[in-house]
Amino acid sequence: MTGVLRGPFRQEYPGETGKLPWWGRAWYRRTIRVGDADLGKRIFLEIDGAMSFSTVWCNGRLAGGWPYGYTSYRVDLTPCLVPGDNTLAIRLDNPPESSRWYPGGGIYRNVWLTKSDPVGIAHWGTFVTTPHVTSDRASVNLRIELRNDGMEMPAAVVTTELFALGADGACSGEVLARAEDVVDRVEDGQLLVQEFSVNNPRLWGPGHPDRYVAVTTVRCGDRVVERYSTPFGIRRAEFTHEGFFLNGERLMLQGVCMHHDLGALGAAINVSAIERQLRILREMGANAIRTAHNPPAPELLELCDRMGFLVLDEFTDTWRIPKKPNGYALLFDDWGTADLTALIRRDRNHPSVIAWSTGNETAEQWYPETYDVSRELTDLVHREDPSRPATFGSNYWLSASNDFRHTVDIFGFNYKPMLYEGFCRNSPFQPFMGSETASCISTRGFYVFPLSDDKGRGRADFQVSSYDRFSPDWSTPPDTEFEGLDRNPTAAGEFVWTGFDYLGEPTPYNDDYTILENFSDPEARTRAAEELARLGRLRIPSRSSYFGIVDLAGFPKDRYYLYQARWRPDLPMAHILPHWTWPGREGEVTPVHVYTSGDAAELFVNGRSQGLRRKGAFEYRLRWDSVRYEPGEVRVVAYRNGKPWAENRIETAGKAAFVELTVDRTTVQAGSEDLFFVTAKLTDRRGRFVPQAADRLDFSVEGPARIVATDNGDPTSHASFQSPSVNAFNGLALVVLRPTGEPGDIRLKVRSRGIRSFELQLRVE
Ligand code: GAL
Repeated sequence: MTGVLRGPFRQEYPGETGKLPWWGRAWYRRTIRVGDADLGKRIFLEIDGAMSFSTVWCNGRLAGGWPYGYTSYRVDLTPCLVPGDNTLAIRLDNPPESSRWYPGGGIYRNVWLTKSDPVGIAHWGTFVTTPHVTSDRASVNLRIELRNDGMEMPAAVVTTELFALGADGACSGEVLARAEDVVDRVEDGQLLVQEFSVNNPRLWGPGHPDRYVAVTTVRCGDRVVERYSTPFGIRRAEFTHEGFFLNGERLMLQGVCMHHDLGALGAAINVSAIERQLRILREMGANAIRTAHNPPAPELLELCDRMGFLVLDEFTDTWRIPKKPNGYALLFDDWGTADLTALIRRDRNHPSVIAWSTGNETAEQWYPETYDVSRELTDLVHREDPSRPATFGSNYWLSASNDFRHTVDIFGFNYKPMLYEGFCRNSPFQPFMGSETASCISTRGFYVFPLSDDKGRGRADFQVSSYDRFSPDWSTPPDTEFEGLDRNPTAAGEFVWTGFDYLGEPTPYNDDYTILENFSDPEARTRAAEELARLGRLRIPSRSSYFGIVDLAGFPKDRYYLYQARWRPDLPMAHILPHWTWPGREGEVTPVHVYTSGDAAELFVNGRSQGLRRKGAFEYRLRWDSVRYEPGEVRVVAYRNGKPWAENRIETAGKAAFVELTVDRTTVQAGSEDLFFVTAKLTDRRGRFVPQAADRLDFSVEGPARIVATDNGDPTSHASFQSPSVNAFNGLALVVLRPTGEPGDIRLKVRSRGIRSFELQLRVE
């Protein structure tokens, strides 16, 4: 599936949900054929996610449905089907005012039609755990729930074989262990437990995501009625009061929170788009994802298993007390138990999942009389999955010290590094982490002078300065969180808000209110003042977030390197900010900051040293705050333990003269849903990056592919993501191509006025 976000952006739509239309009713219809071979089979429709209040109709009869748009569910169509053609219809009814971010609308995840024998394994009917793990031996426990939808209770033989899984997901030939049970009469819901032992197991973890698969076969007589694969990992994950441990070793959670949209592709799932996000995050050193604030696409978890990411799997943003008039609070009483149960049953076999988050900042944390809601959800987690703890993202100051903290296993702090020390003192045996941290805001490649260390400043033209010092009232710059974690090293780690920018929630420009200082251009400011006088408010263009470490198009912002310096300490690197092309700022103070995995660095402007700086205690960046701008070169030499460690340089660029195109992969398999993500970078005559270039780029394609999206990471742009033309934003733009299905060569061309056109060759094999 690949999303197309047709939009359009509308100024009058709420910025909170991306100024995009996503609410309303829709019907999907399709004919499905029941052939002779299907007679006697059960036919299920499996919906990974439909936004929202979906009902499934088959030949005019209501077959089932599920309101929460993030929950996966299945409907038994069998009673409604007839031989021959059948009309399947899915109705969606997505209420406005139901989300704090862009939720998308429609069937945005995969839907499967499954045909099975009346006897087999129940939906999400296996549960694998690895209760004892050492490097010599691991015990594997597989609980199997059988299904019998038929009238008879036949005997069955249930056999499970364990295999190693290769990196490509293929199963090795050798059977590592085997178990078999004979069931005299298969009853619906009957449980079996099979136990295995694996010698010299290859343990799963970031950097070594080795997996196994349990293949369970159910036979009735000599007929195989079901073959069911349960991929899993052998690993020991423990949250203790001394932090998080994986396979007995302390591992810091270097996590990011992620909403589910895929930028210009919208909310519709595409595996290669998620994989690209994870690759970019892994390169930064991230090892964990929090699925803010809802069940993710199953494909995300499969990728996390395969790529070695840890996952905090989250249920919801709201319990009974509403955040939005039509939000999840309307459903919680009737559906809360079913939704959380479905999440756990669907996801409990993924080695990547290390904890369940029952909620985010729900208001029940404020009132002792509603703590029970949290307690009950934690109990449900323990019942459904005794092998993993429950947590919650808490933003209420007192929750960390009052009884609320005892309603969860791991205390999750949202934006409270200053409370870690007190928590360690008062609750020395309870694990804790930064479940949501920083919320630093910035626009890629955009800087405001003079630099202020006041976290509420740095705003202009509906953008936010990229010195990474700015964040809303409730949050902190990244450096403050780092200090909190370093002073309290028993914290399990952090989940930064957010890895990528997302559609909606454009804090600090959420509401249409009155900030004339946002207009640096005097004419624009005069026009805005007139509008303000006339309408009593300003129309704010912002439609996507500023929180991402990476922008909406997938381009790293400066703080990507601040995290990389901390999370990949052994990677020699040094990053300089801001860029060094400031015509008109000659002689003006232009602070230079460096993010490095070294412990000291010397900065040079046009060869003249600006001094050597050393990181002091709890210092995470090196600052030269009184540098005056002069065109030329800024160079940094970083040191570690007194020895040269990394170097970097940036130069003042001239006018844009070239567009450089680079792609994340040059070939795609015909028939796959993989996309090409192409970055366009503007450079001057001498190949230097032009950091403020805004040239219009016109793309065209020849061969078996078409352009599905363009973007540039500008949170204020209302240009359609569907357009084949896009303005570069601070020197960069993105174009996404989808192969049409046939093999062949693809030529992507880009044209721009006054710029040498450029071509990129791609291939579908
Ligand atoms: C948190 C909330 C997130 C997001 C974030 C922005 O309080 O949990 O969903 O709104 O603030 O800083």
